Amino acid sequence: AADRPAFKVRDLSLAEWGRNEIRLAEQEMPGLMALRQRYAGKKPLAGAKIMGSLHMTIQTAVLIETLTALGADVRWVSCNIFSTQDHAAAAVAVGPNGTPENPQGTPVFAWKGETLEEYWWCTEQALMWPDGSGPNLLLDDGGDATLLVHKGAEYEKAGAIPAFDAENDPEEWGVILELLRAEAQKNPGRWTKVIAGIRGVSEETTTGVHRLYEMMNAGTLAFAAINVNDSVTKSKFDNLYGCRHSIVDGINRATDVMMAGKVAVVFGYGDVGKGCAQALKGQGARVVITEIDPICALQAAMEGYQVLTIDDVIETADIFITATGNKNIITVDHMRRMKDKAIVGNIGHFDNEIDMAGLKKAGVKRVNIKPQYDEFVFPDGHSVLILAEGRLLNLGCATGHPSFVMSASFTNQVLAQLELHTNNAKYEKKVYTLPKKLDEEVARLHLAKLGVKLTTLSADQAAYIGVPVEGPYKPDHYRY
Ligand code: NAI
Repeated sequence: AADRPAFKVRDLSLAEWGRNEIRLAEQEMPGLMALRQRYAGKKPLAGAKIMGSLHMTIQTAVLIETLTALGADVRWVSCNIFSTQDHAAAAVAVGPNGTPENPQGTPVFAWKGETLEEYWWCTEQALMWPDGSGPNLLLDDGGDATLLVHKGAEYEKAGAIPAFDAENDPEEWGVILELLRAEAQKNPGRWTKVIAGIRGVSEETTTGVHRLYEMMNAGTLAFAAINVNDSVTKSKFDNLYGCRHSIVDGINRATDVMMAGKVAVVFGYGDVGKGCAQALKGQGARVVITEIDPICALQAAMEGYQVLTIDDVIETADIFITATGNKNIITVDHMRRMKDKAIVGNIGHFDNEIDMAGLKKAGVKRVNIKPQYDEFVFPDGHSVLILAEGRLLNLGCATGHPSFVMSASFTNQVLAQLELHTNNAKYEKKVYTLPKKLDEEVARLHLAKLGVKLTTLSADQAAYIGVPVEGPYKPDHYRY
């Protein structure tokens, strides 16, 4: 239909730039390239119709083209309004063999700086194939695609879409309800069919995984789910070393303010917080941590950080970074008390760690400095500098994690999709993690690039510590 374009990106003329960067990224993504080589000439994902909702970056382009090389039929959106790299989206839409005049790539619906309406429009577009059918697999980051199909089906079953509560519901919820209402008119019964056709999802991030376990425990999860985040080669690398790289990149590209000597507060000392704290310390900032978990608080203290509460530092700190995956970490009242020109950013998945909605309501004047960088001026004249409107700043203000670490994450993603596609009967409507053997394999695929020489166990040593010579080397309860 005319209202359903084949794809939608910002500017196809950026495709050549994107293609060049994809070519360079491939060199840095040995895990994905090894899978392409292993399955060359075979199509283990033939028949898989994968809808992906994950930041449309150069690294994601290499993931998408790995899935298609393995035979999958793929449609893609970004999982954040600011995270798309327009040259990556253009190159994916054009494809390795197409031209901007004759695009032959993967249908992608993503551009940097979408409105919330456009964001959910994109998600809905990617969930419908040209013949009207839906995907049979989802590849999600943060769980928005999973949420949409579940809510759609839930309301169809209930026979009604709830009213929007403007007082209490987040603005975005109104957009989702509006979309579902329009779909109920145009395609009644659509989501019930879509959800019945989906055989599984692989989920990328902590926040999305959290949603999946909640659904499993509530008995509402409609298909099998693989928790990619908790592969060791994902969360202990991407969340940690990825953020260690991209936190400083985001702050620099937006503000260019010197971090050395400043007091930087990192909220949450999980995998992401640990990477951020280390990077900020490396810049010469004096880092303070806040935590609710005594174990993580003790870890931070023994790493040499001060662990305090927000009230201890709110008037004196220079930089505030939220990394909790929780909500209402920094409120409008906190920002009212901050130093003039304090920098405030979030690297957690959703923008509700900082009360942006409250800020907009509080009579604070917004001065846009440049895209994804705003000054909010309070009535008393002091202002705070907010990165990416409170959305994940490493992808909003910079280009997210570098290719090498994303190769480890995305190799897990491809293994998860292969598992869900080829061994589907093994999985119930539950959340699973990949077996340790595969986790070790992902790591193994990334050693040569770094010149790592692995020691081989002797049979005698293997027997002594009770593991097979070829692994897995650790019990499941080992924490790394
Ligand atoms: P995690 O669960 O390892 O760490 C979060 C930490 O925050 C926990 O230690 C928790 O105790 C702490 N916390 C919770 N509420 C708090 C509060 N009120 N005050 C202080 N600390 C609090 O999770 P992880 O993997 O570090 O992820 C954090 C967020 O970052 C998630 O939303 C995740 O989806 C997202 N993420 C973002 C990435 C990016 O590139 N921007 C990459 C990976 C994850």
